[in-house]
Amino acid sequence: MYFVNWQRDISIQKIDGRMVVIKRNKATKSFHEYLLATTYCLVSMMCIHPSAPPPAGKFASSNEGSSMRNNLKNLGVPTPILFSLTEDTIIEEFIEGGNLYTAFSDKLKNKNILSYLAFQAGCLTGRLHNGGYVFTDNKSQNYLVKFDNTLVRTDLAFVHKTNSAFAQSMDIASFLASVIDLDIANYKLIEQRFRDGYVSEANRDFPYLWILLRNIISLGFAADQSTMLQNITKGSTSYKK
Ligand SMILES: Nc1ncnc2c1ncn2[C@@H]1O[C@H](COP(=O)(O)OP(=O)(O)OP(=O)(O)O)[C@@H](O)[C@H]1O
Ligand SMILES: [Mg+2]
Repeated sequence: MYFVNWQRDISIQKIDGRMVVIKRNKATKSFHEYLLATTYCLVSMMCIHPSAPPPAGKFASSNEGSSMRNNLKNLGVPTPILFSLTEDTIIEEFIEGGNLYTAFSDKLKNKNILSYLAFQAGCLTGRLHNGGYVFTDNKSQNYLVKFDNTLVRTDLAFVHKTNSAFAQSMDIASFLASVIDLDIANYKLIEQRFRDGYVSEANRDFPYLWILLRNIISLGFAADQSTMLQNITKGSTSYKK
């Protein structure tokens, strides 16, 4: 199997009887990272919260190493087992259930499972914030679903250490913008349960810039623009514990 993504070419292979995922950087990766970093700075200035961009280039690939994975494990955020890492290739454990966006879009998945998955993503994001880190690129495609419906987190390139409200809001916003084109009932359920999970770990509500950032990011993210606009206007409800 072979996926073509924005930053890396991804293939699945059997090595020594084990299924692994091989991620090779594209030649354009550094340019994409530069674009992302610039956009991040510009959006932070638009929100009157000027912020340094997340790591790029070599720094971002060292983020994929064992030390960051151990760090995350200690904070309660599981990641796939790393088999090898070079400057342009990562080989890691294949997680069988696909990414979380695909799971959310699966019409056969029952609501309890959707709700459990969204809750866990909120818990993992809250734990990371408690530990003083952010994911930055927290889209649902960066979470992988195991057979037992527990989540692990992949794509660690932009994890970095900060407690800033802007950076934390970006995590909430990028997650919710990535699901903004799902049908409104599912979007509402996912937002509510993601928020419940976040609050249960962080002991506080979402950082305040999340709605503004979610709306900005959604404009560029959503495949289905009319559902996105409907969810932006009607999808969010005020938070009830
Ligand atoms: N360990 C894994 N097991 C199973 N599938 C995986 C694994 N890692 C990645 N994938 C699949 O490949 C997709 C892209 O992976 P990843 O986010 O690491 O690449 P990327 O190029 O950084 O993507 P993007 O730039 O779009 O975020 C994931 O959404 C998931 O569907
Ligand atoms: Mg990714």
